[in-house]
Amino acid sequence: MKAEQKVMPDAQSLIEAATEQFVASARNAIAKRGVFHVALAGGSTPKGLYQKLATSPYVEQIDWSRVHLFFGDERCVLPTHDDSNFKMAREAMIDHVPIPQENVHRMPTEEGVAPEVAIRYGRTLADTLDGAPLDLVLLGLGPDGHIASLFPDTEALDVTDRMVTSLYVEKFESWRATMTYPTINAARQVIVFIGGEAKAAIVKDITTDAVEGLPVQRLAPQGEYYWYMDKAAAGQ
Ligand code: 6PG
Repeated sequence: MKAEQKVMPDAQSLIEAATEQFVASARNAIAKRGVFHVALAGGSTPKGLYQKLATSPYVEQIDWSRVHLFFGDERCVLPTHDDSNFKMAREAMIDHVPIPQENVHRMPTEEGVAPEVAIRYGRTLADTLDGAPLDLVLLGLGPDGHIASLFPDTEALDVTDRMVTSLYVEKFESWRATMTYPTINAARQVIVFIGGEAKAAIVKDITTDAVEGLPVQRLAPQGEYYWYMDKAAAGQ
């Protein structure tokens, strides 16, 4: 499925545009439904966005008491581990915004093996959402076309009966837990956030249909679907 592309001149303007979009999505959801359920992306690209959200004037524009943070995927390491997506988001944003701690729903990676983590997190997600879709899912794009921890040629791509699943990622020699396509596709908004020249090759392959069937290409969001990129990633 094709996304609406938003191409910004550089890294800084990309962060600002994505921050403004996040704030607008949060304010809209809270105004309409009294709550904003958002799944954060991991990796390194979104760190600047999370830091910006924790600064003025943006941090004051969101009623954080009505925000519930989830994670689209997680490495199955302790939340204090440098590889933890939660740790990255906590240091960049969570520790610096007035969000109630009970509204921060990290994957319980210390509570067992990856399949158990996925089962427990699926319960948390289902209980908190109570049948509603996520308002926003933020994703990064891997150089192999993966999103969240939906990696190419893995069984996770075909899981449709659960909100969260787990997998062992050979190339990283690590267990992951990840939201599944049904969970991501049901969101009111999906934003793939892509920055830097290192992503230009995969972006070009996908946008010119030089490749097919990659995990990001199998996304079929039922709501709004955007790619936020800088010119370096867009190959411009
Ligand atoms: C993860 C992420 C993953 C990430 C992409 C892009 O846990 O690693 O969820 O899907 O978004 O690999 O990562 P970068 O932003 O670091 O390029």
